[in-house]
Amino acid sequence: MSDFICRITFLFLAASVAAPALAGPQEDLKEFQAFFENRFPDVSMAEFGNGAYAIDENMRENWLATEEFPPYEPMVDEGREAWNRPFANGNTYADCFDGTPGVVQYYPYYDIDKKMVITLPLAINECRAKNGAPALPYGKGEITHVMAYMAFESRGELTDVVSPTCDPNALAAYEAGKEYWYKRQGQFQFSCAHCHKTYAGSKLRTDVLSPGMGHTTHWPVYRADWGEMGTLHRRFSGCLEMVRGRVRDEQSETFRNLEYFLTYMSNGVPLNGPGYRK
Ligand code: HEC
Repeated sequence: MSDFICRITFLFLAASVAAPALAGPQEDLKEFQAFFENRFPDVSMAEFGNGAYAIDENMRENWLATEEFPPYEPMVDEGREAWNRPFANGNTYADCFDGTPGVVQYYPYYDIDKKMVITLPLAINECRAKNGAPALPYGKGEITHVMAYMAFESRGELTDVVSPTCDPNALAAYEAGKEYWYKRQGQFQFSCAHCHKTYAGSKLRTDVLSPGMGHTTHWPVYRADWGEMGTLHRRFSGCLEMVRGRVRDEQSETFRNLEYFLTYMSNGVPLNGPGYRK
């Protein structure tokens, strides 16, 4: 793995970069989290990862009942098998991920060398390529099973994205993600922030709009609506379709930068994937 990455091991480097006097990621993070803590004073940091189920009592009860026999359990088992099954060259996923599936808290990170945000699905396919295995399609299917097992083994770890001030290009990727989140999209001219910040907690048809803080902690998700597991980027596309906006490809630069911003905004919220949503 490249040494030039904005990862946890680079905390020292990150800390040595002087904090900008102007509003930067750290100030954004404070503002973002204070907003939700004020709006939902009864919701604990850990509960924010449960989305709408943290703030709506009725939906919460149904969800808790479903979680007693979680529909994602077979996929976690399949993911565990895939994790342990050797590639043709005898290596396994463990050889790419520091020997343990419990590393989800390190994703996404900014790779200074490659000048891009590396997400977990990208890292999984990089691992496969390195070991002569074909890439898995993104969004659903086998890749989400491997992710589900890794998420399960990472439960309880805190979201801890290194501050994008670690590198100027990382900061630019973060700023692009932030701009996208606050930008009006599609025919209905709604931004992510409209629904998941300004109107968080309000009803939209049969849904309660979840707070943006905690949006990244519980992927992949088994959605009853999908009848299978899906990724965070698949959810982004679903929301864009809702406002008749331009859908992007899974793992496109736009979505990776968005994920980078949004995950940093959830720093401190414990990982609780895989998740279930209706
Ligand atoms: C018109 C309102 C609307 C807009 C705009 C919107 N969403 Fe959503 N979003 C929803 C609804 C409704 C749901 C399902 C209920 C919930 O969890 O909030 C949802 C769910 C989500 C979830 C899953 C939450 C969870 O707990 O699993 C994520 C992540 C998400 N949206 C991200 C985004 C992003 C990123 C954007 C901007 C590209 C966006 N949304 C724009 C309405 C919206």
